[in-house]
Amino acid sequence: MSAVVVVGAQWGDEGKGKVVDLYAPYADLVVRYAGGANAGHTLVVKGEKVILHLVPSGILHPGGRCVIAQGTVLDPEVLLAELEALAARGVQVEGRVLVSNRAHVVMPQHKLIDELRETGDQPIGTTKRGIGPTYEDKVARRGIRMGDLLDAGRLRPKLAQNIEAWRPFIEARGGEVPDAKAIAARYLEMGERLRPYIQDTATVVADAVRQGKRLLLEGAQGTMLDIDHGTYPFVTSSNAVAGGACAGAGIGPTVIDEVIGIAKAYATRVGGGPFPTELHGEAGDALRTAGAEFGSTTGRPRRCGWLDLPALRLAVRVNGMSEIALTKLDVLTGLDELKLCVAYELDGERLDEPPYDAFDRVVPIYETLPGWSESIQAVERREDLPDAARRYVERIETLAGCEIGIISVGPDRVHTADLRDPFAR
Ligand code: IMP
Repeated sequence: MSAVVVVGAQWGDEGKGKVVDLYAPYADLVVRYAGGANAGHTLVVKGEKVILHLVPSGILHPGGRCVIAQGTVLDPEVLLAELEALAARGVQVEGRVLVSNRAHVVMPQHKLIDELRETGDQPIGTTKRGIGPTYEDKVARRGIRMGDLLDAGRLRPKLAQNIEAWRPFIEARGGEVPDAKAIAARYLEMGERLRPYIQDTATVVADAVRQGKRLLLEGAQGTMLDIDHGTYPFVTSSNAVAGGACAGAGIGPTVIDEVIGIAKAYATRVGGGPFPTELHGEAGDALRTAGAEFGSTTGRPRRCGWLDLPALRLAVRVNGMSEIALTKLDVLTGLDELKLCVAYELDGERLDEPPYDAFDRVVPIYETLPGWSESIQAVERREDLPDAARRYVERIETLAGCEIGIISVGPDRVHTADLRDPFAR
């Protein structure tokens, strides 16, 4: 077993950070393959909270290396702040964090464009971190890559052309067109500070594969936010799915042995877009409070609802998922009964998976299961869960058509049932 992908099976925020943190000690290399500073997870280092958006949480495990690969988009300001925060807490970062020279750079114009769009008449509730415009520039073949920050002769003309391309849009929306010269100076300076980290990471990954090292490939966001498979257009701009790991990290599909999909025991979504199982009012508020469901990047309250099996089925299918890691089961403790959305109804028809369109019109079909009241945080094996919790887990397995491996029963590392080496399957 050499490569394991950890992928979000819902709308992001499934607890990938915790699962990667649990699996990282078994891996030689943790590779982040998509997304940017729109993602975020909170870690506790020596009793202090650090929020990481770009550096994989594997950095906290001594010895292991972390790659931020070419499928990501990087905001150098955020990256430098994270590297400095980690170094200040005694974490060795130089030589352990490797940044792809091919990853595209999020620049001030991208953040401005994201902001101008979101304040316009068709917002989708982005994180306003410039993610969409940066990926747009990548596909439009006018993007700026991390390697460009190391060479003034390359960066200056590219940046000037890039800003000119966006000028009509920025001016039409009443924005102030950023000054290319000033940005170039600032980004070249940051490039110099990042020089020790920037390299061709795909060759590092390839060498690791050749040497039989164990790779943990970490996705960002979730399947329902994937640009191809999610609830388009209310999606992010990259391939969050496991397939994205190949192009994003620079490996062939034959290298991947296992895909672990992270799914919360209920569902959440941040930003706009349809969410069939959403709970409004008190029930939604109670779940939000119990699960501390507030975005780690934007602080926005997350929309909360019942677990959506049609969406999870899609995730099992498009990711080729070999196993589900179920998170936050403990948050459901104390509810009298639980609902599982087992299918949808649309115009009199029953659907087992989300439709191509009209996702905003589907009506969830629920199955009701009994809840449990006893604390489950100390449970280390599935068989020690209360009967109702075990039945809930088994029902998800049956309905999703995928085995559940580890179960997270609380926020700490120790609050995990059935943890095992993901490379030992
Ligand atoms: P963007 O990725 O900032 O362009 O935002 C596009 C959509 O993806 C919005 O609905 C965001 O709320 C959502 N999104 C982006 N990153 C995350 C994440 O890490 N967790 C949850 N939602 C996210």
